[in-house]
Amino acid sequence: MVLFFCSLGPLRTGLLLASVGLFVSVCEGRSEASRGVVIPFVFDPKAICDPPCKHAGICIRNNTCFCSKGYEGELCQYADCYPKCKNGGECLRPGKCRCPPGFGGKYCHKVVCDGGCWNGGDCTAVNGVVKCLCPSSWTGSKCQEAICPQGCRNGGSCVAPGICSCLEGWLGGACHTAVCKRPCLNGGKCISPDVCRCHPHFSGPRCEEKKKAFYNRG
Ligand SMILES: *[C@@H]1O[C@H](CO)[C@@H](O)[C@H](O)[C@H]1NC(C)=O
Repeated sequence: MVLFFCSLGPLRTGLLLASVGLFVSVCEGRSEASRGVVIPFVFDPKAICDPPCKHAGICIRNNTCFCSKGYEGELCQYADCYPKCKNGGECLRPGKCRCPPGFGGKYCHKVVCDGGCWNGGDCTAVNGVVKCLCPSSWTGSKCQEAICPQGCRNGGSCVAPGICSCLEGWLGGACHTAVCKRPCLNGGKCISPDVCRCHPHFSGPRCEEKKKAFYNRG
């Protein structure tokens, strides 16, 4: 029995069985359709394909598979994805890509930053490395860390751009000012929480005592 195919060759074509296997017409194509030419070829109903054609491919001649739409390869073993899977994605079945880490979307065409980018960061791929591009006042893998250009001293932490959260006993934009709940007296200076550094002639926790030498000299 000889049947004629209107075909582009065995790959990337659809297959339509008409009238109980007497005639087979294969005219459906995708991007290649316009380039296709009509190639009559023999369909041998007794053909044997061993190993068998996969993914509903049809054995048209001995060891020659005619693949169904979306599959290719000698045994129709490979799925075809159109558009192709990008960024190293693997075509699992027609139209279904498995994407490598850092990429997503139907064709692995989108960069995906694990956990997202915060505070206005942009997920980008730079030389194949996917990462968040942070606005100038934020840093960290997800742009989750604020930047305090002034620094946060004495155990303070930067909680928003330029804003320090200070430990108890410290104040100021960079947590640089100690707080003495009871003020230092006689020219003493608060150098850390509730610690006064006294003028040479004074002593005591608040510099409240005049030193003896001061009396003597005076
Ligand atoms: C196909 O293979 C079978 C079994 O090996 C053989 O009998 C037959 O002649 C082959 N057909 C063609 C067209 O070569």
